[in-house]
Amino acid sequence: MPSQDFAIAIMAAGKGTRLKSKRPKVLHEVGGKPLVAHVIRAAAEVVSPENIYVIIGHEAESVRSAVARTGVNFVLQAEQRGTGHAIQSAQKELEGHANSLVLSGDAPLIRPETIRRIRDFHLENEAAMTILTAAPADPAGYGRVLREGSTNRVAAIVEQKSLRPEQSNVGEINSGFYAFSSKPLFANIHRLETNNPHGEFYLTDMAALLVAEGQKVMAIRADDPDEVLGGNTIAELMSLDANMRMRKARELMSQGVSIFRPETCVIDDDVCVAADTTIEPFVQLLGNTVVGEGSRIRSYSVITNSQIGSNVKILPGCIMDDSSIADGAIVGPYSRLRPGSEIGENAHVGNFVETKKMRLGRGSKANHLTYLGDAEIGAGVNVGAGTITCNYDGAKKYKTVIEDGVFVGSDSTLVAPVKIGRGAYLGAASCITADVPPDSLAIARGMQVVKEGWAKKKREEREKSKGH
Ligand code: UD1
Ligand code: CA
Repeated sequence: MPSQDFAIAIMAAGKGTRLKSKRPKVLHEVGGKPLVAHVIRAAAEVVSPENIYVIIGHEAESVRSAVARTGVNFVLQAEQRGTGHAIQSAQKELEGHANSLVLSGDAPLIRPETIRRIRDFHLENEAAMTILTAAPADPAGYGRVLREGSTNRVAAIVEQKSLRPEQSNVGEINSGFYAFSSKPLFANIHRLETNNPHGEFYLTDMAALLVAEGQKVMAIRADDPDEVLGGNTIAELMSLDANMRMRKARELMSQGVSIFRPETCVIDDDVCVAADTTIEPFVQLLGNTVVGEGSRIRSYSVITNSQIGSNVKILPGCIMDDSSIADGAIVGPYSRLRPGSEIGENAHVGNFVETKKMRLGRGSKANHLTYLGDAEIGAGVNVGAGTITCNYDGAKKYKTVIEDGVFVGSDSTLVAPVKIGRGAYLGAASCITADVPPDSLAIARGMQVVKEGWAKKKREEREKSKGH
């Protein structure tokens, strides 16, 4: 058995000319994450990050900083002269390992199981080069794999632009994922030439080169052709995204989550949802959002980096960022929870309520047309319709504290910093500028004036003037 030592090289230096974008291709996002981050994540399940080398070049620093925290190594390919040249640039790093797995940084659907399959197949066959292939419905644009008869042995890879007419019906494509034994790879890699339509060093030419040297080049077919799809154009990226979202939805459904019309939902890879939760059509769950069991998220809600407990109801049209909702709470329709909102157990937040950096205690209610920012609100509080915490004086932000059991009358404004003591009542339409002691009633508004008969008199005067 040959040495099982593997490094993984991820080719991510290209510009992505076909995207017509300022952003480097591998930083375009699908499934809520850059293309290359998906490939790194799959690779990191096969070897440890210190054995992963990401080859960067175009916009190298932005690619590096986008994925640096994964702990992988970076190799600079200062000039991008093709996939073969990318591996030439990483010779020093890869040579130290007996074998290398080479992955394309722009094919994000690859699964760790498949990378392991390439590795194991490569070792079992003691091959010099192993190519992961696939037979997609439409092979156009990909390099084609020419086998030796009907064996597992490969004769050559031919790029789309160099296909001869009689080769154009070959349906087996090169996925851009390979295993190499380092010795024959680096003994021959400097023999690659640039006599092709792009004038580049093609890694794919290694197949024929190694075969000519009498080395063994093998093909292994991917079970699912979708897994190797690359994203060279925006349209391809969007279809990768749809594919990835569907994969995520299926995974959650297999864990007991009901997702109605899953093709309309956008759920990021890192999102966790517990069993018996229902997700209605057109919901987005983004970032590291976590949802407990038995909850229901109704349509048109967009929830980012938030923790949602069990048996929570999110009614239609809620927007939520970096917030948390405890068990049994009801939010929406049309609530906006900005960062730092903590909604307590069984609390209610209703329509057109905006919250920010605040805590709403257990069983408290803010059901209509309200702004609560920089506020600490206790349990059992009723916040009437149209209540506003005035937290900002144009320069600084101040805090509003509302203790347990307070009743805030509708249309109240609370000018912070201000504290409402436990069990107090605020009369409707009050503008509260000073602390209110517990169990008291505060009214801060113009007193009502009633002028009896005034309206009737006014009408009579008007009638009289018409008569003239
Ligand atoms: C490549 C293969 C093709 C295969 C397809 C699968 C070659 C010549 N062709 O074509 O047979 O069917 O992938 O998706 O390899 N890169 C670098 N440095 C460079 C050039 C590219 O790091 O100098 C990186 C790119 O950033 C990309 C990857 O290598 O992540 C593949 O390059 P790309 O230009 O997309 O190759 P394809 O034309 O798709
Ligand atoms: Ca590609």
